[in-house]
Amino acid sequence: MARVRRNVLTLGSQDQTLFWYGRAIEAMQNRPITDPTSWRFQAAIHDYIRALDPLAVSDEALPSRDTRNRFWRQCQHNSWFFLPWHRMYLHFFEQIVLAEVVNQGGPKDWALPYWDYSADFESRLLPEAFRNAMLTDGSQNFLFVVARDADCNAGNQFADEQDVELKDALTQANFTTQDGPDFGGPRTRFAHSGPRLGVLERVPHGLMHGAVAGEFGWMGAFNTAALDPIFWLHHCNLDRLWQVWLNRDPGHQNPTDPFWREEISFPFHDATGTEVTMRCIDVEDTSALDYAYEDVGDPLPAPAGVAPSAAGATEESMVDAIPPEVIGISDTNVQVDNTPIRIHVPTPAHAAARGRRAALAAAPSFITEPRLLLQLENLTASGRANAYDVYVNIPDGADPTQHPERYAGRLDLFGIAEASHTTDQHLGTGLTYTLNISPIYQELSTAGDWDPDNIDVSLVPVRKWQGDTVTVGRVSVSLG
Ligand code: C2O
Repeated sequence: MARVRRNVLTLGSQDQTLFWYGRAIEAMQNRPITDPTSWRFQAAIHDYIRALDPLAVSDEALPSRDTRNRFWRQCQHNSWFFLPWHRMYLHFFEQIVLAEVVNQGGPKDWALPYWDYSADFESRLLPEAFRNAMLTDGSQNFLFVVARDADCNAGNQFADEQDVELKDALTQANFTTQDGPDFGGPRTRFAHSGPRLGVLERVPHGLMHGAVAGEFGWMGAFNTAALDPIFWLHHCNLDRLWQVWLNRDPGHQNPTDPFWREEISFPFHDATGTEVTMRCIDVEDTSALDYAYEDVGDPLPAPAGVAPSAAGATEESMVDAIPPEVIGISDTNVQVDNTPIRIHVPTPAHAAARGRRAALAAAPSFITEPRLLLQLENLTASGRANAYDVYVNIPDGADPTQHPERYAGRLDLFGIAEASHTTDQHLGTGLTYTLNISPIYQELSTAGDWDPDNIDVSLVPVRKWQGDTVTVGRVSVSLG
């Protein structure tokens, strides 16, 4: 019988899952960073920057350079390895916690709970057990860290519906595509930080990182995120949503490419501190890892009269068969800070591109109408940035928030600083987002409210705190 990862919000007052989690965290925090099963080593697997380690002790011993190079700074982002790598990471972390729970006399079937923040208003509040520095008996609460958004720790609303929205991710037909958007992210090699990200990685993943963290919190940066005990419940939920996505449509399939499945393996340590490696093929089925989720039901209302499509794979080949064609670009290197801005994108090439695509499509019935894709390319910043809501064609002087019909999506910008530094692993080209604006186009053009030669893109800051200035490399519009 597989262990069950349960919903943290419905554990009930007698449940001991979080009590044992706290006990294990305490024990792991008492281990030195040189111990692979310590709290800090585990967080460093995600990322580690010595100069920015909030728990650094001067002159403390670190693992050898070889160990650090092999096991630390491994997290896979902006990549089709995002989901499987974090699944492996959760698995070994959970094994380490479980071993400690059992060691202290706790349940042998202990499993991490997940935080399903998308259900309703209440579920978006930080789970209660994580809010207070002290337990009722006056002892330290190891589930608490002060380095979070103040409203989050206070049990107030700190995230809104757009931060936890699931429709965009769960309705993606494909795990991976050439140019996006897609559920799981682009084909990459090892990618600590790559250029483009899958929809789930943006929302709710990156947005909840930023919302929990606020301006200074640990969840807001790769190198500190996993020091926060809530990180692991957040990632359990994303891991769960992977299964929800697979279940909700037979066309939803994992990549079959051998490069994804078995040619790359990632190093970890098991609960005994022994080195191990894992491949994606080893984690596709969670029962092989001895866990299952309490609930993998479809959270989206079933659209009336629409049967699930079995066409995912076919759509992927069609989508990729004709690469998107750019029909307009903005000025380059537009700066955006904490006030809304508009970026103009002239789209003079739309008519010619539509003609070419119609001629190219040998079986035009597959794509009756090409998608209109908005790309925000190479966003860079040197520090933590705000999140931005993206709207298209807001009338002059109007308040964008009054125009939900023109809302294209929310940019999380989690990891923007990490993506902006040039390292030996990547070029520091920043983050790139692809938003499908076809639904907006269809609605507005039907209403006679669409100028085919021009698109205006508004970026509206979301968070109350001031973020770093962001440079938008350029904005482009494609037919794809
Ligand atoms: Cu590797 Cu949520 O981050």
